[in-house]
Amino acid sequence: MKRLVFFLSLIAVSAALQAQVKVSVHENAPDQPVIPAELFGQFSEHLGRCIYEGIWVGPESPIPNEDGYRTDVLEALKALKVPVLRWPGGCFADEYHWMDGIGPRENRPKLVNNNWGGTVEDNSFGTHEFLNLCEKIGAQPYVSANVGSGTVEEMAKWVEYMTATNGSMAELRAQNGRKEPWKVKYLGVGNENWGCGGNMTAQYYSDVYKRYALYARNHGGNELFKVACGPSDDDYNWTRTLMQNARWNMHGLSIHHYTVSWENKGSATDFAKEDYYVTLARTAEIDELLRNHIAIMDAFDPERRVALLLDEWGTWFDVEPGTNPGHLYQQNTLRDAMVAAINLNIFPRYAERLKMANIAQLVNVLQAMILTDGSRMVLTPTYHVFRMFGVHQNALRVPVDVSCGTLVSAEGRIMEDFSAAASRDAAGALHLSLANPRADKAVTVELAFDALRPGQVSGEILQADRLNAYNDFGKAPAVAPKPYKDAKISGKTLRLTLPAASIVVLEVK
Ligand code: AHR
Repeated sequence: MKRLVFFLSLIAVSAALQAQVKVSVHENAPDQPVIPAELFGQFSEHLGRCIYEGIWVGPESPIPNEDGYRTDVLEALKALKVPVLRWPGGCFADEYHWMDGIGPRENRPKLVNNNWGGTVEDNSFGTHEFLNLCEKIGAQPYVSANVGSGTVEEMAKWVEYMTATNGSMAELRAQNGRKEPWKVKYLGVGNENWGCGGNMTAQYYSDVYKRYALYARNHGGNELFKVACGPSDDDYNWTRTLMQNARWNMHGLSIHHYTVSWENKGSATDFAKEDYYVTLARTAEIDELLRNHIAIMDAFDPERRVALLLDEWGTWFDVEPGTNPGHLYQQNTLRDAMVAAINLNIFPRYAERLKMANIAQLVNVLQAMILTDGSRMVLTPTYHVFRMFGVHQNALRVPVDVSCGTLVSAEGRIMEDFSAAASRDAAGALHLSLANPRADKAVTVELAFDALRPGQVSGEILQADRLNAYNDFGKAPAVAPKPYKDAKISGKTLRLTLPAASIVVLEVK
């Protein structure tokens, strides 16, 4: 009780002092990096209903589909402009044998998905189905190879099958209906090899990594970007060991960070205001984690040859009541949207080193973009944030200085009470993504530009009447973007109000 009073009084003090936020936008700052489109990447694992039902229903399904891919999801993914899609796992990757997923579907073996609920995996979605999906939605494939239970030969042949122009693997691919090789840039050499990918130590994995990476060859004109399995959360020793022993053999190092309390995940929809702040303050810690891992990488690689890839992130709550605990199906509320906005505003700060981020996962699993129920589909609040923030993809970063207050969560974590990022696109338009995490207080924002005199402002806002509002099947969307018209231009300054728990993306010309 004492703790709660302390928490509430801190919020009150902070709120009173910080009713107004100032954002200085340095739109002409020199030497800014491009914000990689891949920071808005996605992840799709053979887990629960992500692949099967979520993406793939098969050509014979009564659910409307295009070559087996459900049409509604395909259209939603095209609109999202997914830059990169990671597959087939996750933990599934280190038990996946790619040859099970090629050739006539009726001949493919049926296996047990040991990681995720013991579901039967019929392998009807395999290499062709994944790479063709990427082509259809215009996403770059990011393939995770099996190191935990697969051989070097198996991985080498998979790379050859996907990318070689000649040889037996290319012939086999042609027999299976695809003559031209695919372009596959990103290759993950194992996943979570400190855990479900083989329970290895950092030292042992770094040697194993080098052996596997050596035989993952570039075929024809295809050039692989090889990603070593990195740490989870604050395992700095893993990063140090990998950088020390294998930095010359990798193009990228991955890291995973979920917003979760493993002891008490809590409901995705049934939560109190304190839980909301606990989740947001936890997620904001990604800033410190990225900074610390990057500092270690800088020490070994000051030229920034090796990229950092946050290839799994997002919220992890209890599964929805009555669903398979191994399928990780959770609803998605305005709280998830705020988590997404805070993360997507942090990532560009590290664009010199952080080159990809993949939220977990695309459909029906964890913090999903899309949920399906038979033939029905909803777009989640997180989907809308990704669609709105997509304006930053491949745009030049514009630094912002935010002067705001702080919030203290019931766990004692401190976070800023405002979040912002900005970029300038190829056409010269400036985009600002802003989020007010305060649950019950609007904020007045003064945006001051270095030199720009805004002529035109347009934008969208995402908000709802409750923190736990979500989009449900068969109901009108409770969380959907609307035009934002509350910005007033005054010389080099823009004044706006962001309602409580709202997210705004502006275009300024
Ligand atoms: O995304 C769910 C799981 O979380 C992945 O399979 C694994 O890599 C991580 O532990």
